[in-house]
Amino acid sequence: MPTLLHIDSSPAGDHSVSRALTAEFVKSWKAANPGGKVIDRDLTSTALVPVTGAWIGAAYTAPDALTPEQKSLLALSDELVAELLEADEYVFGVPMYNFSVPAAFKLWIDSVARVGKTFAYVDGAPKGLVTGKKATFLIASGGDYGPGSPAASYNFVEPYLKAFFGFIGVTDTHFQTAGGTAALNYGADRATFLAPQVEAIRAKFAEGK
Ligand SMILES: Cc1cc2nc3c(=O)[nH]c(=O)nc-3n(C[C@H](O)[C@H](O)[C@H](O)COP(=O)(O)O)c2cc1C
Repeated sequence: MPTLLHIDSSPAGDHSVSRALTAEFVKSWKAANPGGKVIDRDLTSTALVPVTGAWIGAAYTAPDALTPEQKSLLALSDELVAELLEADEYVFGVPMYNFSVPAAFKLWIDSVARVGKTFAYVDGAPKGLVTGKKATFLIASGGDYGPGSPAASYNFVEPYLKAFFGFIGVTDTHFQTAGGTAALNYGADRATFLAPQVEAIRAKFAEGK
């Protein structure tokens, strides 16, 4: 059964642009994959915590040597890694926060970067273990950071996501950015703003992606 992992990280609820776009993606994906399974993971209501010394100790302990306390420290990370490994395809809603990803998204990244599960070192070189997956990132930013724009070099979202997902083995990545969402705060019509973004998602499915 094809499985899609759908992750949102915007706290803006119904006002969120990235959530509107992932919802459209999920709708199109379901139509293209009748009988497929969707795993919904909302990072704004997931009890993610920053990495601690004890957590690192547990993550680098052999599975059969873990204490009950260490197992419990790793429980959420194990669950998030299992979702990542189970799905064939991913869609992420990512707001730009201070030129990068929101803290909740970074905490998710810190939780799924697990030695022996999502990456390994082979002969001293890193090797991604999450292979054969496809990832789509639907990004929303208040300003415009497109190639050639004056602020392009301040966009750390796409380069960071490419680097991290490449590190764990996800190299089939697709990025769509809705830049200039600040216009919505100044009276721009939401449906008109979203229309070309929604159309771009539908077009990808129409051409079989
Ligand atoms: C805490 C915070 C930080 C932000 N930082 C940036 C930024 O660095 N650059 C930018 O263009 N927009 C920034 N924005 C605007 C958001 O990127 C914009 O509102 C976007 O639409 C958020 O995604 P969402 O609509 O899915 O919530 C920021 C917004 C917030 C709340």
